[in-house]
Amino acid sequence: MSRATAFAPASVGNVGIGFDILGFAVDALGDRITVSRTERPGIRITGCSGVVTDLPLEPEKNTAGRALIALGVAANPRFGFEMHIEKGIPLGSGLGGSAASAVGAVVAANALLDEPFDRLTLLKFSMQGEAVASGSVHVDNIAPSLFGGLVLTVGIDNPKVKRIPVPSGVTAVIAHPHMFVPTQQARAILKRDVAMTDFVWQTANLAGFLSGCYTNDLELIREGLNDVVIEPQRRQLIPGFSAVRAAAMASGALGCSISGAGPTMFAWALAADAQAVREKMVAEFARNGVAADHWVVPVESAGARIVE
Ligand code: HSE
Repeated sequence: MSRATAFAPASVGNVGIGFDILGFAVDALGDRITVSRTERPGIRITGCSGVVTDLPLEPEKNTAGRALIALGVAANPRFGFEMHIEKGIPLGSGLGGSAASAVGAVVAANALLDEPFDRLTLLKFSMQGEAVASGSVHVDNIAPSLFGGLVLTVGIDNPKVKRIPVPSGVTAVIAHPHMFVPTQQARAILKRDVAMTDFVWQTANLAGFLSGCYTNDLELIREGLNDVVIEPQRRQLIPGFSAVRAAAMASGALGCSISGAGPTMFAWALAADAQAVREKMVAEFARNGVAADHWVVPVESAGARIVE
């Protein structure tokens, strides 16, 4: 194979209670990365199209480029790589756009190798790309974009990835207000310390949420999907946050919070309630002066894959 195109889905990082360690894939949108073999060694980014077009094309400064460099160093192939990036995920949206580009790059390039790497190794290459965009290494967008579904990642140097089962019928509602929130800024405003009471609540909520997922206990999921640490510090960045969240919960959502660093918001709901939750969230954003794109998607999905 001399050319491959990978689709890498968007993702919701944190899922409220799992800051930097938990995320789920959003298969409704994603980035498409095409990588070709070239005789000339090295890496070249030929262009960037789609909803973002002004990314740096120097591989060192580009999330996809940096991930591809990491793969190239490890694989040391006899050939070089040329890459085109087609962005389907807006930047600064909280939908894991930089992670998807990094994941798409390594999945596409991996298909061109005589001895491909396993997915866990691809995760490590992608993490180097994500670091370019957000200034820190975290995996809560990369892991779901790569593996699909709801994913917990434990550890950074040798990450352990666990796909978490999601009760059937649970659906995600995504509302993306047309605004830009830089991830670095949304990380910079976070306090360095957490009060002991908040730590206890957050731990209980994360444990309850995960237990609820494993045991099909929707009440435990509802109880647990409640971020008492990060959301209170970031919600002021999102116009109408409290109204959007309240509207989702009043329409039967199991939980509603910020997607990654925001401004996108997500809710979990049973399929029967999902349309009402979506309408109410979008209406509240509109009442606060912001138009929003919106999707209803299953939480379970396939993750990044070769499409051409
Ligand atoms: N976990 C990250 C954050 C996701 O919330 O800052 C954004 O990259």
